[in-house]
Amino acid sequence: MRHRQLYLRYPIADRLLRLGYRRIARDANQASARASEVTWICAGAENPGLTDVKFDFVFNVDAIHHFEDRRRVFNEINRLLLEAGTICVATDSEQIIRNRKPLSTYWPETIELELARYPRVETLDTELGEAGFVNVRHEEVSVTDWLRDLSPYRTKVFSVLSLLPEDIYERGLRRLEADLTQGPIESISRYLLLWAHSLP
Ligand SMILES: C[S@@+](CC[C@H](N)C(=O)[O-])C[C@H]1O[C@@H](n2cnc3c(N)ncnc32)[C@H](O)[C@@H]1O
Repeated sequence: MRHRQLYLRYPIADRLLRLGYRRIARDANQASARASEVTWICAGAENPGLTDVKFDFVFNVDAIHHFEDRRRVFNEINRLLLEAGTICVATDSEQIIRNRKPLSTYWPETIELELARYPRVETLDTELGEAGFVNVRHEEVSVTDWLRDLSPYRTKVFSVLSLLPEDIYERGLRRLEADLTQGPIESISRYLLLWAHSLP
């Protein structure tokens, strides 16, 4: 596999490229999927079926709460990393979930649902350590934007909206629509980044 640059939509991308990372594995999103210089494979993170390649960086965004067997995923990532390679897991801490804007303000019922399905940060720290990662550190990043288009909320792009009873979902959407008539609504996208290294 040739060395390739990835197009990433988060501010972290520039930093990664400046740091010299060129062989990167990450899960796909719509923005990165447009990058023609990227080789995409479709496979479960627990068993991506890769045998002839090693990576110096593995980036996992907003997916850790979907994995059925995180230990297996972390062991597999460690196996696929070069010596002293880096893993970065972007997820939501309890504090981030409780303060999501506008999701938790318009649908406060999503908070408990999300806390039930997102792994706690301390659990991730432990699991990373048990999989052999060292130097685990945390960093919070955020991007503030102004919401003008409610399509992502109407199409339930945020999977937790599909877990809500329909009347509660509709009530939040109506409030959001009403507030939008007064002007754009502040939207804050925050992530907790867990960085760690495989052993040198
Ligand atoms: C909330 S989306 C995040 C997508 C993308 N990383 C982004 O930031 O836009 C969660 C993604 O995890 C993927 N996913 C869920 N379980 C998975 C698994 N076991 N292995 C690999 N991907 C998985 C889903 O297909 C979905 O694309």
